[in-house]
Amino acid sequence: MIGPGPARAIRRRWSWGSVRYRAVSKYYITTPIYYVKDAPHVGHAYTTVNADALARWHRLIGDDVFFLTGTDEHGQKVARAAEEQGLAPKAWTDQLAPRFASAWAELNIANDDFIRTTEPRHAGAVQHFLSQINDNGYIFKDTYRGLYCVSCEQYYGEDELVGGGLCPIHRTPVEHLEEENYFFRLSAFEQKLIDWYEANPTAVVPESKRNEALSFIKGGLRDISITRTSIDWGVRVPWDDRHVFYVWYDALINYLTAIGYGQDEGRFETWWPAVHHLIGKEIIRFHCVWWPAMCMAAGIEPPAHVQVHGWLLLGGEKMSNSSVNQIAPGDLVAEYGVDPVRYHLLRDIPLGSDGEFSAEGIVSRYNSDLANNLGNLLSRVATVVGSKCEGTGPAPSSDSRLASIAATVVAEATQAWNAGQPNLALEATWRLIRETNAELEKAEPWKAEPGPAVDSVLGSALEVLRIVSILVVPAMPASAEEIWRRIGLEGSPAEQRLPEAGIWGGYPGGRPVEKAAPLFPRRKV
Ligand code: ME8
Ligand code: MG
Repeated sequence: MIGPGPARAIRRRWSWGSVRYRAVSKYYITTPIYYVKDAPHVGHAYTTVNADALARWHRLIGDDVFFLTGTDEHGQKVARAAEEQGLAPKAWTDQLAPRFASAWAELNIANDDFIRTTEPRHAGAVQHFLSQINDNGYIFKDTYRGLYCVSCEQYYGEDELVGGGLCPIHRTPVEHLEEENYFFRLSAFEQKLIDWYEANPTAVVPESKRNEALSFIKGGLRDISITRTSIDWGVRVPWDDRHVFYVWYDALINYLTAIGYGQDEGRFETWWPAVHHLIGKEIIRFHCVWWPAMCMAAGIEPPAHVQVHGWLLLGGEKMSNSSVNQIAPGDLVAEYGVDPVRYHLLRDIPLGSDGEFSAEGIVSRYNSDLANNLGNLLSRVATVVGSKCEGTGPAPSSDSRLASIAATVVAEATQAWNAGQPNLALEATWRLIRETNAELEKAEPWKAEPGPAVDSVLGSALEVLRIVSILVVPAMPASAEEIWRRIGLEGSPAEQRLPEAGIWGGYPGGRPVEKAAPLFPRRKV
């Protein structure tokens, strides 16, 4: 099926006649909202690109998708960063938030909304949510004395510190803070959280991270301080305006603000709790312990799904804004192109594991998969169609060996994307590309006389390119469009709907195939 045709129309709705087709599912995906302490780096890009790819995948399978990212603009860390620049916090965040938005534009991120926690809509949602919790009796006032890491925006117990008083994440000294705070009765949710984890064994993935959160809960939960009087850069507590909410307590609520919580109940119920939070492993405690408990306390369902990923490392160290080892996403895009950067992030660092980031890694993946495989397949097919078929792409044959490989690969890629494993999805996709190159090398159509045998081989290779361009939409949307166009197809691969569009035989033949410059010219290491 090329472009929007009957198959799509059938699938889009619940029923056709009395037959029920796949229901349109809701897929709400979020990234953490990033601190506007500094410009975005490739660590932030890693999460955002993965979320974008998952969002694009779910659009391909016909889900209704809402993809949210944004910036976390309150708290001590941001206030101090502003002060160092001699700026008021709002002036500082007004400068920085657009740098995140433009980094995401450079990476071809198709988010549906960009939330800033300094927006009035967010203050409204925070106050509403917290008033619910207060009304439900889970908030009380007390004096807090504790050891605080400003980089984490978190208190630590003595027993959690390392190296004689250092933050376990940042390895910098913690500060002694003492103030009158409102507290959230997290301890009341110990058993409820344990029950929730048991009833929802895949709510937090991977399993190792689920177990980490669960054992933290089982170790006993302390009530947490959720307001500050020492700073005023935050959302005011509605019932006591000397206090502002603690930044984490405000930040998590962004996931609700963006879908109309407290404003538009219909919209809120459309997307909640069908949410998928993609987060780095250092913020598990907030997302997998506090956040579900906060939701329970406010009387809403906990999030359906949290997927935890590892860290991008540079020379063995976490890439972060508190260290010098950052790389700007825009610099990489300028050097390697947007799709190769996206591809590398998705293909080489499996979601869930840490991975070393290096220029050599990008280049070697680029040469092996993009230049030598996908790019080479496209070039040689276009060249031979030019020389043996007068530039008109033949139709595929139904008995090609590649047909069954394609069916297996589409199924495997589907399963992997659905499971949140882009690296495996791409690995499967590249198996189809390699098999097709191997098939061409065996058949050597460039040496043969024009005729049915040559047409059959080239038609099948074109059909693979059609299927592959759909499968790579999540990872490399612009390249997918370009391949689609060069093989003479109309519309766009992103408009296709799987699984129908992945069925062998969709390339119609009789289309002009364009010979053009290599899509991915080889690079020197
Ligand atoms: O934690 N490798 O913001 P943040 C992989 N504002 N991912 C990385 C990374 C790296 N080296 N560095 C950053 C905050 N990330 C809070 C979140 S959410 C309600 C509030 C990504 O600016 C990863 O997703 O420190 C990580 O969890 C996030 O950026 C932290 O961004
Ligand atoms: Mg951080």
